Amino acid sequence: MAVNLQGLRNSSTSSESSAPALRVYLETYGCQMNIADSQLLGAILGKAGFSRAEQAEDADIVLLNTCAIRDHAEERVLQRVRELAALRRRAPHLKIGLLGCMAQHARAELLYKAPLLDLVAGPDTYRRLPELLGRAAFDPTVDVRLDREETYADISPDYESGVRAYVTAMRGCDKFCAFCVVPYVRGRERSVAPADLLREIRALSERGTKEVVLLGQTVNAYHYDDMDFGGLLKMVARVDGIKRIRFTSPHPSDMSDSVIDAMAAEPKLQPHLHLPVQSGSDRVLAAMGRGYDSAAYLRLVDRLRAAVPGLALSTDLMVGFHGEQESDFRATLDLVRTVGFDSAFMFKYSLRENTRAFKLGDTVGEEEKTRRLRELIDLQEQISLARNRATVGSVFDVLIEGSARRGEHRLCGKTPQFKTAIFDAAPGLRAGDTVALRIESATAHTLLGRAALGWLGSNSARTANARPEP
Ligand code: 5AD
Ligand code: SF4
Repeated sequence: MAVNLQGLRNSSTSSESSAPALRVYLETYGCQMNIADSQLLGAILGKAGFSRAEQAEDADIVLLNTCAIRDHAEERVLQRVRELAALRRRAPHLKIGLLGCMAQHARAELLYKAPLLDLVAGPDTYRRLPELLGRAAFDPTVDVRLDREETYADISPDYESGVRAYVTAMRGCDKFCAFCVVPYVRGRERSVAPADLLREIRALSERGTKEVVLLGQTVNAYHYDDMDFGGLLKMVARVDGIKRIRFTSPHPSDMSDSVIDAMAAEPKLQPHLHLPVQSGSDRVLAAMGRGYDSAAYLRLVDRLRAAVPGLALSTDLMVGFHGEQESDFRATLDLVRTVGFDSAFMFKYSLRENTRAFKLGDTVGEEEKTRRLRELIDLQEQISLARNRATVGSVFDVLIEGSARRGEHRLCGKTPQFKTAIFDAAPGLRAGDTVALRIESATAHTLLGRAALGWLGSNSARTANARPEP
């Protein structure tokens, strides 16, 4: 690909002949898919000869990989763009690019809300990024073309080192829930070929990755030729060296027997599912166009719990969607109590332009949304705490990730149920090992444990759920 970086170079301080690589600082907002996309961007930029800066102040180019899911996410990015504008007054050669979902969603407003941007590029344009940056050196450049085929399957992302890697299995979404911008900003559903995924995961395994998380907006809608998501899970489970497999986020309507069978049959598939429910009110679920009612969701939860012993469930919940009455909100609280989620991400509904619900407007005031959210969070915190406390005394296999954030002599890792566990470091315990941990105490968000003697330093592929102490 012919990339014209002359303009960028001329406008920076370096001379062309001995020009050091242009330094890019990449900042990521939003979900796991965006983090994975930034790793892809890292690979694309590296291959095109750019180097990475550790902070915006040291960069020739700052790229923000953005999120559009709620208004708040976009506001944060606009604030950051204003900060970067101030930085550019001190470093006039700096080029600023806005990538990802917000670029796609807010492309028209950005022309006046952030006129100083040099580049605005959506999630399907990354293959062209070096070329776009070359153009942006001369003229503000916008590319927001969506592409029904683009999966970047041939590009191996710059994965972070660590025990866990997030691997994109499918992109886009065809569900068009009434509140959600994703189908508009990430485009239609498309899956990565199984052979490409296998190649990627085998390479990760060879580099020491122990856990793979398959990613997609509706990851269990994965299908490629006659391979469905259950088939894919079984295939990935055969990769040597990968001890644990997870996926996020599945949609309840795509939770087929094939996926549940794979979860039940494959020991490497971990007993945790993030299964967004959004609301417990049938009226609201229908208005959202979620494709299930609360009874169907509860039946699914029962099937899953019967098939996968020790299964932990987390979810996404929203309060204050268009038309949500107090009784609808109470139905959400009821569903949350009935299921007993281990944890949840909880949000106030945020009206998004382009979505089906946009023209319906907001019917629940900000204060009322805040009250509902507070009550929901309080309830979920109690449930999370109770569920975590119920693990005290049990032993879990914890895949060690590294040092705990607080406390130098402590390590952290995840249980099979994806709960964070913290414990004292000891000789022989290393990141990537699996240790059997007896849980001694718990908060709503963390388990504190002690390596169970006799099981110390185990590095096997055991993925057992809670089991009695040996
Ligand atoms: N307002 C609030 N929350 C939203 N989500 C998606 N769209 C919106 C919106 N317009 C939430 C949903 C989804 C999660 C990723 O973000 O709960 O599952
Ligand atoms: Fe958005 Fe619904 Fe698709 Fe999830 S399934 S990404 S909420 S449209």
